[in-house]
Amino acid sequence: MKKFSIAMLSMLLAGSMLLTGCGGNNAQTQTTDNGQDESNAAQTGADYKLAVDGTLTMATNAFFEPYEYYEGEEIVGIDAEVGKAIADKLGLSFAISDMEFDSIITAVSSGKADMGMAGMTVTPDREKNVNFSQTYATGVQSIIVPEGSDIASPDDLAGKKIGVQQGTTGDLYCTDDFGEDAMSRYSKGTDAIMALTQGKIDCVVIDNAPAQKYVEANEGLKILDTAYAEEDYAIAFAKDNTALKDAVDAALGELIADGTVQSIIDKYITAD
Ligand code: ARG
Repeated sequence: MKKFSIAMLSMLLAGSMLLTGCGGNNAQTQTTDNGQDESNAAQTGADYKLAVDGTLTMATNAFFEPYEYYEGEEIVGIDAEVGKAIADKLGLSFAISDMEFDSIITAVSSGKADMGMAGMTVTPDREKNVNFSQTYATGVQSIIVPEGSDIASPDDLAGKKIGVQQGTTGDLYCTDDFGEDAMSRYSKGTDAIMALTQGKIDCVVIDNAPAQKYVEANEGLKILDTAYAEEDYAIAFAKDNTALKDAVDAALGELIADGTVQSIIDKYITAD
């Protein structure tokens, strides 16, 4: 019940952010023309609708390395490349619309963007508002603490100040388990990490792949060996756009089967 009301709250917040223009300075769109005939999708008999004709628009939050992040002006990462490969297969141009993480589901369900791809975890609450593609990657909610912290496992989180990116599963799970008062919510994971290095909070709960990047980039932080929760990442679609979901799922299925998705993941995440 609690999870449901939090999901509803984040939907409301997301709605108000869209009205005010997607949360200000980081709302940005990046487009790549594939140089193909724009009516290609129509020619192949596709019956899905798109926010912009001939373009597959992906809603994301580009502060989540290695899935999506800025390299200079450009948004790169696993989702950016897999999304582009899907658009290529469908004969569509590709655009990325960067927004707050908790605006993505509203952007997709209202048709402002065609798909939400943001290292987004499939959860029963989200499934009430969007349909998900097949899984293309997995994640784990990890706990980052300063070296020397007395937090050694998830059981030690009780009574601690927990930092999360607003609206993520780390936020939802920890709020459920440790209560509202334990939570410090940030619009970006980087802001949570900054607060941790400044001693304002005791830990950050975030997906393992960005956690790894943060710990590499910041002295004095470590990831606990015990993970908090395991998850599946998938692409979100509006409930009424099943034709687009089916087309993307077919393209994604081929990209998984021929090894393209794995090679993109391997390019950004080096096993060690
Ligand atoms: N996997 C987590 C979730 O779905 C976090 C995703 C955050 N993604 C991002 N692009 N900021 O809630």
